[in-house]
Amino acid sequence: MSGQLTRIFLDNAATTQPDPRVVDEMIPYLREQWGNPSSLHGYGREARVAIERARKTVAGLLGTSPAEIFFTSGGTEADNTAICGAVRTLGCKHIITSPIEHHAVLHTAEILAHRGEAQLHFVRLDEDGYVDYEHLAALLSQLPAPVLVSLMHGNNEVGNLTDLHLVGNLVRRHGGYFHSDTVQTVGHFPLDLKNTPVDFIAGAGHKFHGPKGTGFLYVNSRVKIDPFVCGGAQERNMRGGTENVAGIMGVAKALELACTDMEAHHQHILSVKLALKEALEERIPGIRFNGGSGRAEGSLYTVLSASLPPNPISEMLLLRLDMAGVCASGGSACSSGSQVGSHVLNTLYPGSDRQGVRFSFSRTTTQAEVLQAADILAGLLVGEKVAV
Ligand SMILES: Cc1ncc(COP(=O)(O)O)c(C=O)c1O
Repeated sequence: MSGQLTRIFLDNAATTQPDPRVVDEMIPYLREQWGNPSSLHGYGREARVAIERARKTVAGLLGTSPAEIFFTSGGTEADNTAICGAVRTLGCKHIITSPIEHHAVLHTAEILAHRGEAQLHFVRLDEDGYVDYEHLAALLSQLPAPVLVSLMHGNNEVGNLTDLHLVGNLVRRHGGYFHSDTVQTVGHFPLDLKNTPVDFIAGAGHKFHGPKGTGFLYVNSRVKIDPFVCGGAQERNMRGGTENVAGIMGVAKALELACTDMEAHHQHILSVKLALKEALEERIPGIRFNGGSGRAEGSLYTVLSASLPPNPISEMLLLRLDMAGVCASGGSACSSGSQVGSHVLNTLYPGSDRQGVRFSFSRTTTQAEVLQAADILAGLLVGEKVAV
């Protein structure tokens, strides 16, 4: 290992390390049970049975029924399916969303608006980026039903949580449909979908120690939409294409592991986040925290988005952190390692000359790691060379 830098991985909102137990669960479906689930013979039947078992597991852990879970290639596809389905099948001519949604939602809604399929409306946010529920209610009462409301549960850049029950009840009262991008909260917060007034949610396996390229869409049984990916009868006609059997087994196993001891993971990760926050405040005068990410409640416990005072190495900071062994990001994964502006930070802090660095944690992150990362960041800012 000589010469190899030990890495401190603080970019878990971008992706998480697959749990070895998830990998073990997947391997038999690559080595032995590699059948096509649509085949009628033994290989196919084994694969089909496995997928349906996985669906039952996911549905059980989310408090819903297997008929409401559709496996996808991840969060982006699930978001696209829900939003396009609501506009094209359910007749939603108006979409209410927020300017700090993930691009999987924002770009989809913008494209639909650009094509004239729906009109886009942005709900107001408060100064920390939290949804203004009164403005949402006002928009809903002005627009003709049915309206699609798409608001994420936990913001991947600044951590802000949105109240699913409050929004869902409001939307129901106005005869609309509610989609929530729950990619950052599935596997991190308990979800009881039978008792949550939501029509669509999205999950991505790689955000909770599962495989990349896997995920699912929940569609409430009161709602029927057309498929987004056409061309086969898979997923009960909702998503054409041969299923990623090993990936589906992996996502179900990952969710099972994430939901076991969820409260203990929550407490551990929150303590790590608060330790980093305190360490950064001690070491870096003038540091602030973006959105609600500095809060112990009302925010993802997995995300701390630091706002650094202007500094001479700003342009190179993420790269310098990486060279010193700390993996963090500038905003979302798309801006990691580059200075492409974050649409979330630009919306919340227009014209700001401060730099955002997002640290995000998982159940494997340790206190020692975050304290070392704080030393390294502080050292870089004052021109010292500190390496892991
Ligand atoms: C909030 C949110 N939505 C959607 C996605 C997209 O998920 P996937 O990478 O599985 O397509 C991400 C991933 O970064 C995310 O954080």
